Amino acid sequence: MSKPEIVVLNDYEALAVRAAEEIVHISGEAICTHGQFTLCLTGGNTPAGVYTLIATRFQLSVDWNAVHLFWGDERCVPPDHPASNFAMANRTMLSRLNLNASQIHRIRGEDEAEIAAAKYEKDLVEFFSLEEGEFPCFDLVLLGLGENVHIASLFPGNPAIHENRRLAVAVEVDAPQPRRISLTPPVLNHAARVMFIVSGANKAEAVKLALEGPRDIDRYPAQLIDPDRTEVMWLLDRPAASQIKL
Ligand code: 6PG
Repeated sequence: MSKPEIVVLNDYEALAVRAAEEIVHISGEAICTHGQFTLCLTGGNTPAGVYTLIATRFQLSVDWNAVHLFWGDERCVPPDHPASNFAMANRTMLSRLNLNASQIHRIRGEDEAEIAAAKYEKDLVEFFSLEEGEFPCFDLVLLGLGENVHIASLFPGNPAIHENRRLAVAVEVDAPQPRRISLTPPVLNHAARVMFIVSGANKAEAVKLALEGPRDIDRYPAQLIDPDRTEVMWLLDRPAASQIKL
């Protein structure tokens, strides 16, 4: 049975730098081996510093012409809404890069959720040339971690945790902007690599439950990311790692 790689950094700044370094390294490997880098971004606030770094200090270290960006989930809000995951990535990263529209595969939060999920699925099928029953293989999926141990918009108790056919689904969650679209577990686990980026003492309990808690993906959705199916790395700052045994 494989185990996730766990890396603990002193503080958020060191965490963001290490995450940016890992993304740059993985992008280079992917582009060298198969000519492109498919990166699935996470939403939330934690990655803002990472996205800023890869678009500034590390911008020249990435062959951006070969990069395609996707999202693990989106809130059902317009792309310029403060709560939009696309808006956060645009503010911190995309606005500093000169990517073609064809490289940016956003989830259309402005559409009705089921329609947006279907459109995103169609984009994934076309981009990855998927046959029926196949799943996309992102070179890297970034994930944050909710205090309730959710990932993407797969929240505790949500039926989407057990979705094993579709690529993206509309969900209703107990959070601000409750209507969302999320990638499904098989898509996340089909990635070449999954990298968690988690910061703050407020996430320490969630990290402990995800990594050391009783096995229960309905209560702890982060546990559905399976190190036997994808290479899993956890990047944590010291406060977020404060309750796990290292
Ligand atoms: C979202 C994210 C979600 C996020 C966690 C952590 O749309 O909110 O995809 O899964 O990663 O909620 O969010 P923070 O980084 O803001 O703590």
